Parts: sequence; structure tokens; C-alpha cells
Amino acid sequence: MAFLPLSTPARRIGALLAATGLVAAGLLASGVLERSAVARDVETPLTPEAMKALAPQGAKVAAAADCFACHTARGGAPWAGGLPLETPFGIIHATNISPSAEGIGGWSRAAFHRAIRDGIAPGGRHLYPAMPYTSYRGLSPEDVDALYAYLMTRPPVAVANKANTLPFPFDQRWTLAAWNFLNLPAEVAEPDPARSPLWNRGRYVAEALGHCGECHTPRNALQAMRSGAALQGAVIEGIEAPDITPSGLRRMGFEPHGLARFMAKGLSPQGGATHQMFDVVHFSTQHMDAADLAALSAYLFDRDALPAEPETPPAPAPAAVPQAVSLRARATYAGLCAGCHGQAGEGIPHVSVPLRTNTAMRVANPGGLLRAILVGLPAQRFPGHERMEAMPPFAALIDDAALADLATWMRAEWGGQDKAVTPEAVARQREGLRADASH
Ligand code: HEC
Ligand code: HEC
Ligand code: HEC
Repeated sequence: MAFLPLSTPARRIGALLAATGLVAAGLLASGVLERSAVARDVETPLTPEAMKALAPQGAKVAAAADCFACHTARGGAPWAGGLPLETPFGIIHATNISPSAEGIGGWSRAAFHRAIRDGIAPGGRHLYPAMPYTSYRGLSPEDVDALYAYLMTRPPVAVANKANTLPFPFDQRWTLAAWNFLNLPAEVAEPDPARSPLWNRGRYVAEALGHCGECHTPRNALQAMRSGAALQGAVIEGIEAPDITPSGLRRMGFEPHGLARFMAKGLSPQGGATHQMFDVVHFSTQHMDAADLAALSAYLFDRDALPAEPETPPAPAPAAVPQAVSLRARATYAGLCAGCHGQAGEGIPHVSVPLRTNTAMRVANPGGLLRAILVGLPAQRFPGHERMEAMPPFAALIDDAALADLATWMRAEWGGQDKAVTPEAVARQREGLRADASH
């Protein structure tokens, strides 16, 4: 299975560029200006009984926080690390976090808390923000203890960490002190007493555990998440991690109950979870309990409670397209797509997803739609034994102009979007995919 959060760290690591410009500030900041989110009481070790009692909760936290997905190489031993995260500056490997000598076997409770919430490993070694400590900073001390207890009771695996291939100056970890100083929130969000416990729990699930913002929040020049634009959407490897603010969710056709179901099942009338989002559902959200998914949905829709009934937003009104475009596109659709997706884009149960209500038609950036058509999608197994067949690649069967017409028409007809997709945009997408494939 493709595992794609590569570009997220890639974009984060761009921060290093700026950080090196701040070398002087880094010297100053190192150790002096960084504020720890970790309280002193974690200096006291946990008793073996406490560790045992906490471990099951830690398993849940680890799933919700998606630790496994990054810390296990494809086909590798669980928790032994080795997954390469590609960045424009070189490769950063996720590390062994099993309790072996090569992993975190010797780590104290306090050392673990500092790594997860401050991004600083023993010896003052700064972690790259490819490890999403910016989000995990908001994790509660109880959940970090549970994670520690869980990881320390995994089988130890003796696999050495792989060296990163970051050239100077990006290999200078201490420069990250400057980045942390500028970008790491000093304070951790306190529960908002004006909001319901459900909303507050949802904020915790979205921001700290699920770290949705790491992909869905646009970044500033230092490649830090823009706090004023939380969850407003960002483009990752040419695919839009869409706006998941309340208005963005409604634009895609989601309502609160449907969104909670989507996070559990990976399927909805808005289509299946695809690309990076498939992995998020697969490794993480499908394992969350119903109460947390309801909280997540309430928070994302900014509600104190879920509405009693589903509140499905109306479908967008079709946008106008030139008749010549629509004629050509309809012919292409009938010839290549209708057999699997239905004459009117209604989908076929257990075979393929509907397109007329699909998020792919409604998000601003057509990258995900074009990529799905050009390279196809793997057969995916969704939670609860639901599965979808594979979608074949069409790159060889459709030229740039025909695909531009098809995408323009589908987005207008089913997504209400009047901005045309140009043949040049299709060509760029093809080019990007070729570059990806050559890695
Ligand atoms: C998006 C990928 C990603 C996710 C998700 C992730 N990590 Fe990491 N983690 C990394 C990378 C990459 C590193 C290595 C960073 C470096 O070398 O500076 C790392 C480093 C660490 C370290 C430091 C280990 C060492 O030897 O220095 C610990 C501990 C850790 N992660 C624990 C966790 C836990 C627990 C979770 C879940 C709560 C988690 N990670 C989730 C990518 C990830
Ligand atoms: C590793 C990056 C990443 C993380 C973390 C992530 N997402 Fe996504 N998400 C994406 C991408 C990319 C897409 C677009 C997928 C596509 O168009 O094929 C997406 C799509 C979505 C969609 C639209 C439905 C769809 O599949 O197109 C929703 C809703 C969503 N994400 C919610 C969330 C929530 C809630 C969280 C946190 C629990 C989250 N995402 C975490 C990358 C991510
Ligand atoms: C052989 C059957 C088949 C044909 C032909 C086909 N598709 Fe698909 N398509 C699928 C399946 C199955 C999925 C769901 C894959 C998954 O989620 O793993 C899918 C998914 C998609 C998605 C992603 C939707 C989402 O939920 O993210 C888009 C967009 C799409 N198809 C468009 C098209 C277009 C446009 C055509 C014609 C050029 C086409 N498909 C032809 C089977 C097909």
C-alpha cells in the first residue's frame, strides 16, 4: 500500500531553511528560550503495576495518534522504525521506538515526555518536526504516560536506526531550537469552559491526538502551521488536504453524523478515503471509539452537541460549461467511466463509489481528481469488511485536452465549480506523477 505522508515532513523540513538563517538566534534560543510543556512530576518513575494498568489505554492513544504508521517500515518489525520520510533536503527516517537498546529501552518516563511534547530527546538532541511534536505538545500527561507504558511493554526489537541523509546545514539539529522558539506554542490549550465537554474532547482529538492540522492547515514561510488559518486546507504532493472547517466540510457535502461515520468507515456518499487520507482512516481513526468520533465531528463542525437528525447540505447547483466541452466530456464519461460509476455518477454498491456527490468534485484543487483518473486507485479494504474494487489507470487512454474537458464538466455538473481545469494543469499533474514514480 502506498504510504504518503512524505511531503508533510518535506514541507516541515523547509522550516530548516529558515532556521539556518537564524543560526545566531538559535544559539541564543538553545536551552535558554525554549519552554517545556512538561511538568516536573514526571521525574518520578511509574511503578511496574502502574505501567501494566496503563498499557491498554496506551494502545488506544497510539492508534488515535497514528504512531505505528510512521514508526514501522512497510514489511518491517513493529515499532522498529526505518520508514523513510522524503524531504527536498534529504531523507529523515522514523526511529526505532521499541524498548530495545537501539530504540527507547533506556528512556525514562521524563525523557519520553520531553521527546513527545517538547521535541527534545535525551542529551538535548532536537527532533525534526517530521515527528509531529508540534501537535503532540497538546497531549495530556496521562495519555503520554499511557503511551510510554504501552511502548515499554512491546517486544524489544534490535534494529539500528538508519542514518538520515541531510546535508549541512540541515543536519545541524540545534538550529531547531530557533524554529521551536518561533513556532512551538508556549502554552497548551486549556479546556474552554464556555464549550461543552464534547466539543473540548473533540478539540483534543483533532488537534493533539489526530493531528489533523499537520496536513489540513496551511503553513507560513517558516513552514509552521498558520494558527490563524487552522484546518483551512493545504496542498500535499499535488493533492489537496481539503478545508475541513465547518464551511469547507459542508461544501464537500458532509454533515456531522456522516463525518463521524466517514472517519470510522472510510466511506461515505462523499466517496472513499483516498490517497493519504486512506492511511489516516486505516491506521488511526477507524480505531477511535464512537464517543471520540462524535466529539471529533462536533468540534470540526463547531457544535457543542451533534444535531438530533442528519443535516445534509443541499447539493451545489451545477455551474455552466460551454456546450462543446460538455458534449465531449459526456462522451468520454459514457465511454470510460459510466460502466463502473453509473450513467449519472451514482456509483455501484461494493464496486465503486458515487461521483456526483463526491468530495473530489467539490474541493477547489483538482489534483486529487486528476491523479485518481491518471494512475487509478488500489483495491481498498475498508473497515467492517467493506471493500472497493481497484480503479484502473487511464493515463494512456485519455489525452490532456480530453481529461481537462472531463474534469471541468464533472466539477461543474456535480461540484458546482465554474473554474475550468486546463490541459496545462493536466500536463503538470502528469509531469509530477512521472517525477514521483522515478524516485
Ligand atoms: C508523521 C510521522 C510520525 C508520527 C505520526 C509519529 N512519529 Fe515519532 N518520529 C518520527 C520521526 C521522523 C522521528 C525521528 C525524528 C528525528 O530524527 O529527529 C520520530 C522520533 C520519535 C521519537 C524519538 C526517538 C529517538 O530515538 O530519538 C519518539 C520517542 C517518537 N518519535 C515517538 C512517537 C510516538 C509515541 C508517536 C505517536 C504519539 C509518534 N512518534 C508519531 C515520525 C513520526
Ligand atoms: C497525513 C496527512 C493527513 C492527515 C494527518 C489527515 N488528513 Fe484528512 N486528508 C488528507 C488528504 C491528502 C486528503 C484528500 C484526499 C484525496 O483527495 O484523495 C484528506 C481528506 C480529508 C477529508 C475529505 C474526505 C476525503 O477523503 O476526500 C476529510 C473529511 C478529512 N481529510 C478529515 C481529516 C481529519 C478529521 C483528520 C484528523 C483526524 C485528518 N483528515 C488528518 C491528508 C491528511
Ligand atoms: C473498472 C471500474 C472503474 C472505471 C472504469 C472507473 N472507475 Fe473510478 N473508481 C473505481 C473504484 C472501484 C473506485 C474506488 C477506489 C477506492 O476507493 O479504492 C473509483 C474511484 C474514483 C474516484 C475517487 C473518488 C473518491 O472517493 O475519492 C474518482 C474521482 C473516479 N473514480 C473517477 C473516475 C473517472 C472520471 C472515470 C473515467 C475516466 C473512472 N473513475 C473510471 C472504479 C472505476
